[in-house]
Amino acid sequence: MPRVLAGVVTVTRQVHFNSAHRLYNPSKSHRWNVRRYGLCSNPNWHGHNYILEVSVRGTPDPQTGYLIDLGDLKRILHAAVVDPCDHRNLNEEVPFLRGIIPTTENLVVAFWHELAPRLKPARLQCVRLFETPRNFAEYHGPLID
Ligand code: NI
Repeated sequence: MPRVLAGVVTVTRQVHFNSAHRLYNPSKSHRWNVRRYGLCSNPNWHGHNYILEVSVRGTPDPQTGYLIDLGDLKRILHAAVVDPCDHRNLNEEVPFLRGIIPTTENLVVAFWHELAPRLKPARLQCVRLFETPRNFAEYHGPLID
């Protein structure tokens, strides 16, 4: 039997997708939207090369030494987020984003809710989304667990 090291670890997988979006709150005036969102409210959309990093936390299985099979994690990320969002318009074409203003903040929360049930029994630790190389948001789940 190989030696097993006990410890809680975090494993992260990164995936990429490209999407169009527009930041616009239809319950507010056009003037309000242009003031808040500027070019991001462009009615003809704009795009981002998104980078999504999803981290899972727990104790590795003593038989495999894996916390989660990274191939499984990759398949889950593609099924839950990349396939529905890649080369899509986030405002109009992604059912689970319907009615949500697709800011990076709102996207990490929405992605969490899509991913957490599919990852069980592994525990989702963090969803981190880069909208640009310098701008990103993270979500660590609801404050009350
Ligand atoms: Ni944008």
